[in-house]
Amino acid sequence: NIVPVVLCGGSGTRLWPKSQAAKPKPFIPLLGDKTLFQSTLERCSDRDVFTRPVVVVGDKHLQFAQQQASEIAPDANFIVEPVGRNTAPAIALAALALDADDIMLVCPSDHHIVDAPAFEAAARAAAGLAAEDWLVSFGIQATAPETGYGYIRRGEAVGDGFRVERFVEKPDLQTALQFIADGGYAWNGGIFAFRAGRFREELARHRPDMAARTKQAFDRGQHADTTIRPDDALFAAVEGESVDYAIMENTDRAAMVDVSMGWSDIGNWDALFQKRLSPSQENVIAGPGEIIGARGSMIDSDGPHVTLVGADDIVVVVNGDDVLVAARSAVQRVGEASRCKKQ
Ligand code: GDD
Ligand code: MG
Repeated sequence: NIVPVVLCGGSGTRLWPKSQAAKPKPFIPLLGDKTLFQSTLERCSDRDVFTRPVVVVGDKHLQFAQQQASEIAPDANFIVEPVGRNTAPAIALAALALDADDIMLVCPSDHHIVDAPAFEAAARAAAGLAAEDWLVSFGIQATAPETGYGYIRRGEAVGDGFRVERFVEKPDLQTALQFIADGGYAWNGGIFAFRAGRFREELARHRPDMAARTKQAFDRGQHADTTIRPDDALFAAVEGESVDYAIMENTDRAAMVDVSMGWSDIGNWDALFQKRLSPSQENVIAGPGEIIGARGSMIDSDGPHVTLVGADDIVVVVNGDDVLVAARSAVQRVGEASRCKKQ
């Protein structure tokens, strides 16, 4: 069986002011009435395929995670981080909590996936490779030179997937353009399958200090029935690094499965606008608001009634005391807002 390991961290800047450090993207309903975290659990809810999930979450957000999981996966286990140390230590904690031969499916909780059956099929294929000690990533067709993603170069076929010849995390724009032109690269979807024991070995090989410190923090932590808390001070001493840099760029056992499942990471307000826009409409209105004589604009308000007149391609977002008015073409700069940095 496959153990879903659901990661929730993140700083909540790109979808500010809706997403904030106090309540980042995974925990707010952005599309439909479920949050991205809940949809992630739901995709892994077939207990013939998946075991109960392990949710790795920061202490600050534990209450959201517990409350939101209770509706979808009441059997979830939690690993609670006193501070965020990025994804490599977060996954390492889960690997330490599992048996060496458990197959972990690492799922970020900041994605939107349209085709859940395709996800499940890919999870099975990836699990098969992981059982043979491959470190498997979900490859997504790369359609633009995004610099916020990892890129994987497809090699020879193995099992239901391919060997990864090269893994490059967050290349600069020029390199990303080359990868797109080359055609042999896919985006790393950020979803991984590992045999827990193999993950521990790879971490010990490529990041011995991180592996040792994380294990110490885990061993000396509190182990209750459904919740594990690594030791605060020991975990705080772990170096922070993502799994992409720490393991995937360095391992010689990387593999991938090709997945087409309507994946999107909803990285900014424009991406959310595109997802929300229905073909018959010119604008998007979420919450109280009205748009007159404009196209390509969006209102998202949690209270005040917003009226937008004659302004095309504008995003207006209201959350409590914070109001964002942005050109859709410039939303990647939202994180520069001083209100966003202060949170
Ligand atoms: N528990 C926990 N602790 N979760 C964390 C932490 C942490 O310290 N840091 C990040 N996460 C969670 C995030 O909430 C997210 O669900 C997931 O781990 C991935 O982290 P991101 O910070 O969102 O990574 P990224 O988007 O920059 O890059 C990753 O995802 C891309 C696809 O969206 C990489 O894997 C890229 O290679 C990939 O293309
Ligand atoms: Mg992300």
